[in-house]
Amino acid sequence: MSKETRETIDTTRLQRFARAYCESAVLFAAIDLELFTHVARGADTEDKLASALDISGLRVERLVNAALAMKLMSIDGGTLRNAADASRYLVKGQPTYAADWLTFTRADVPKWFQLTEALTSHQPPSVLGMYDDLTVEQARSYHASTYSIGTGAARRFTKRVDLSGRRRLLDLGGGSGAYSIQAVKMYPQLSAIVLDLPPVTEVAKEYIRDANVEDRVSVLPGDFTSTPFPDDVDVVLMASNMALYEEAVIADIVRRVHDALVPGGEFHLVGEMLDDDRGGPLDAALWGIGEAVNHSRGKAHTIGQSLGYFRDAGFNKITHSVFVSGTLYHVVGVKNS
Ligand SMILES: C[S@@+](CC[C@H](N)C(=O)[O-])C[C@H]1O[C@@H](n2cnc3c(N)ncnc32)[C@H](O)[C@@H]1O
Repeated sequence: MSKETRETIDTTRLQRFARAYCESAVLFAAIDLELFTHVARGADTEDKLASALDISGLRVERLVNAALAMKLMSIDGGTLRNAADASRYLVKGQPTYAADWLTFTRADVPKWFQLTEALTSHQPPSVLGMYDDLTVEQARSYHASTYSIGTGAARRFTKRVDLSGRRRLLDLGGGSGAYSIQAVKMYPQLSAIVLDLPPVTEVAKEYIRDANVEDRVSVLPGDFTSTPFPDDVDVVLMASNMALYEEAVIADIVRRVHDALVPGGEFHLVGEMLDDDRGGPLDAALWGIGEAVNHSRGKAHTIGQSLGYFRDAGFNKITHSVFVSGTLYHVVGVKNS
């Protein structure tokens, strides 16, 4: 083996994993302190930041060093500039501000550091995992985080899926109703039903009312693993919840969707799925292992498994594509006419 091709084995990569939590902590602190907002509003030197944040120059320097090294900002002649993503998503007051979403799982940090105990626990997992005993208040705070990102994903969905020939959408685990609201706004002939757990549909009603689409979007409080589906729907969507459940549950849902759809209807499954060699995307694997933390029976499903659920249920014209690179895939199947 030549010198160039010889692989260097050292601890660099392992150290990165061992200390990855430090990067989360820096991001959370920067969000708490509104670092990027201050920079955007003119506190764009370390001295100005020290006054704006009311913290010492030494602490500002440490925080800025970390933000620079994480490429969250750059510096030129002492002037700081937010990176493009920090500028779009972490400057307060902009419609794209996404701090709620980015800190969505922050409260889970202590649980993640109990992962070893969760993996070795003999306590039987529950079916609903983190959704056991969900209150309306918890659902409201959870979906305050998902609504903006869900609306962005829904815009992407309604741009890539032509629903102009569809009448009635069933949105399984529709949460805030983001997808349904966006879909009926884009397609005037469409109505939608958001099926979610009862505390969540209480919250969905608030988003539906605020969007002025109460006449077109209704809710169905229930559990999509057991509640009978309406049988007059010609399009069904299930987005960002498949990792919460194991194979048999997802396979059964896909079968029941096929039964409920009118002939010629279509089913869209958007989820964190793994490539068939299970070498990624990492995000899908992490949502999957997160279900150990949540003590459910959920896991990451592969693309191949997902296609299999569709085939076994009897769907035709099954296709799959990347929905959001590095995290979400989109599987579609059509019921025979
Ligand atoms: C991550 S959120 C996604 C919400 C929405 N699909 C979106 O993408 O904006 C997952 C949703 O699935 C719902 N969910 C999970 N298990 C469910 C079940 N068994 N029955 C009904 N809804 C469920 C949760 O309550 C939550 O609203």
